[in-house]
Amino acid sequence: MSAALEIRGLEAGYGEVQVLWGVDLSVAEGRMTTLVGANGAGKTTTLRAVMGTVRPWKGSVRFYGEDVTHLSPHTKAQMGLVLVPEGRQLFADMTVEENLEMGAYSPRARKNLAANLKRVYQLFPRLEERRAQRAGTLSGGEQQMLAVGRGLMADPRVLMIDELSLGLAPVLAQSLFGTLKQLKEQGLTILLVEQNVHLALALSDYAYVLAEGRVQIEGPSREVARNEEVRRAYLGI
Ligand SMILES: Nc1ncnc2c1ncn2[C@@H]1O[C@H](COP(=O)(O)OP(=O)(O)O)[C@@H](O)[C@H]1O
Ligand SMILES: [Mg+2]
Repeated sequence: MSAALEIRGLEAGYGEVQVLWGVDLSVAEGRMTTLVGANGAGKTTTLRAVMGTVRPWKGSVRFYGEDVTHLSPHTKAQMGLVLVPEGRQLFADMTVEENLEMGAYSPRARKNLAANLKRVYQLFPRLEERRAQRAGTLSGGEQQMLAVGRGLMADPRVLMIDELSLGLAPVLAQSLFGTLKQLKEQGLTILLVEQNVHLALALSDYAYVLAEGRVQIEGPSREVARNEEVRRAYLGI
């Protein structure tokens, strides 16, 4: 199994404060990999350092074998490494469709804009119904659909999603997870950061547990879900 994304010894932080202490993580092509851990463990920082919005201090990030550690976030996105950031960061005053079009900024994605838009509307019919509505007036669940849809418009080879279900009702979270599963079945490689450890482990193939900026536990999700420590600390069992 070749790795779509290979992170080795990643260290990063903010100012003088080190947050990541050598994160090793790999994302297999065509699989759903999940990164879980307590609040403040460094999950978001890991995704930012991979993307390059936070500068990696040490270590490397390889994308389909190519060292991309010090490439700009923009270049990485153009190569197909796409992040749906925590907090969605939509353009509130723009319509649903304008937000989706903003996702297709690379020449490659521009070329496939019409086909990708169709695909996003097939996945999320709700977005098509609301294509002319301003993003800021959508419900939380619809905004998260839009954030994922915008990520898909960039034509990702690897889609990283930071906190898919945060703040959503359980039934909406379930439905979004269903959509992710569908995307995986269509061949998309996904790295998911998720607060809902139970759902994340149930739906992903492989899992990493991050604690204090280090990978504490890793393995096939089914095995990680049976791990005593994980059950006690994250599943409340
Ligand atoms: N922009 C920032 N500036 C300074 N410290 C930050 C910033 N973002 C996160 N941190 C700190 O980095 C640590 C890890 O945070 P984060 O990566 O957001 O964790 P998680 O996503 O796992 O909840 C926390 O101690 C947090 O306070
Ligand atoms: Mg976070």
